[in-house]
Amino acid sequence: MSNRFAVILAAGQGTRMKSKLYKVLHPVCGKPMVQHVVDQVKQLQFSDIVVIVGHGAEQVRTQLGDEITYTVQEEQLGTGHAVLQAEQLLATKKGVTVVLCGDTPLVTAETIEALLSYHEQEKALATVLTAHAEDPSGYGRIVRNGNGHVERIVEHKDASDSEKTIQEINTGTYCFDNQALFKALQNVGNQNVQGEYYLPDVIEILKNEGEKIAAYQTDSFEETLGVNDRVALAESERIMKERINKKWMREGVSIIDPSNTYISADAKIGQDTIIYPGSMIMGSSILGSDCIIGPHSEIIDSKVGDGTTIKQSVVHQSSIGNDVSIGPFAHIRPLSSIEDEVRVGNFVEIKKTSMGQRSKASHLSYIGDAEIGADVNLGCGSITVNYDGVNKYLTKVEDGAFIGCNSNLIAPVTVGKNAYVAAGSTITDDVPEEALSVARARQVNKEGYVTKINKKKNN
Ligand code: UD1
Ligand code: MG
Repeated sequence: MSNRFAVILAAGQGTRMKSKLYKVLHPVCGKPMVQHVVDQVKQLQFSDIVVIVGHGAEQVRTQLGDEITYTVQEEQLGTGHAVLQAEQLLATKKGVTVVLCGDTPLVTAETIEALLSYHEQEKALATVLTAHAEDPSGYGRIVRNGNGHVERIVEHKDASDSEKTIQEINTGTYCFDNQALFKALQNVGNQNVQGEYYLPDVIEILKNEGEKIAAYQTDSFEETLGVNDRVALAESERIMKERINKKWMREGVSIIDPSNTYISADAKIGQDTIIYPGSMIMGSSILGSDCIIGPHSEIIDSKVGDGTTIKQSVVHQSSIGNDVSIGPFAHIRPLSSIEDEVRVGNFVEIKKTSMGQRSKASHLSYIGDAEIGADVNLGCGSITVNYDGVNKYLTKVEDGAFIGCNSNLIAPVTVGKNAYVAAGSTITDDVPEEALSVARARQVNKEGYVTKINKKKNN
């Protein structure tokens, strides 16, 4: 196998998106389009992966990381000009170069591999990945001669009326003999409607030199969808979502309403977990088996054990154990760690807090910056008062403690092992182990008070 290089075009602004965010950074199923392309490319063996950046160069680099080589296209003069920016890095090398667009997030490693194999088998100098489109408008069209051989590619805007009826489109993915590519790019001009240097013109140039050009038609048009505007973005989201959901259903996950369930490309889910409608499992979340998720739960970058239920709740950047029950209507904020068999109930907010096994905060609480031991009961309305307007402080509640309803724990403060806090207390000092702490005014009953008042009123 000869050396393989990949060039990914990601320098365009994406005018048609009408967005402050650079086109290739728009997410599809929670992951930027160009990251999808790079992740597929990384599954194959390439000796260099070069990404051409321009608009939003810094953001694209930050997104993709430093395993990749970048070159900057200062001015966006077209896709041919974009590839030419890799000349210094690649032009002298022998091998095959795959060029992909950063705005085709649905392309798969299998299809790229099939294109490469076909290119090698045909011993072509250039092979273009094509597809049949029901509605080809906007795409470059594949013009074939009487013998069915590819002659050239014509852009939609430059196409004649008869060329516009061609339904075989250029997907924007190609294989080239590397040296032939950079040689031909020298001869690409910009005499076209857009005044741009078009990469697809390389096909015609090589063809006219008598070189062998091949076309590999994939039967999956969907995979080659190029996202140029928000309509196509939503379409690719729909297709990607369906692809991901089907994969997990085949792995043994039940999804009650796949059209209304959103799972990121990097999430993982165990067998016999059931996902109810309106749920989003985002980022690199990992869910165990036998869980019940939703309806209407959002889980972002979190780890969830086995047998856990999360209903109508949000869990963000946290770790949740086995057989935990969360919700309905709970909010687990970042850096929380919830251990096995914990219960977090209605209208409870947890932030940067660890909760030991079997502990409970069942109703109406805010627990932030806290270390809660095992078997603790945080009664309805328990609040950690963690913030004095300047700094945040830690609350510790040791194993087996019982915090009565509507108590304030003013941090920094520790409630010792098995201690009791009476309902309605505002705790400012540490409570020793096994103690009962009552911190509220004693009740006074004034007998007959109302009768006396009423008598006065009537006189
Ligand atoms: C391109 C193809 C078209 C094909 C379609 C498939 C050309 C001239 N046309 O059209 O035949 O059917 O893709 O989706 O190639 N880019 C740069 N620098 C530039 C211009 C573009 O890096 O100077 C990048 C963009 O960021 C984008 C990719 O190249 O990721 C494709 O550019 P775009 O403007 O989307 O081309 P299309 O009009 O979609
Ligand atoms: Mg495009």
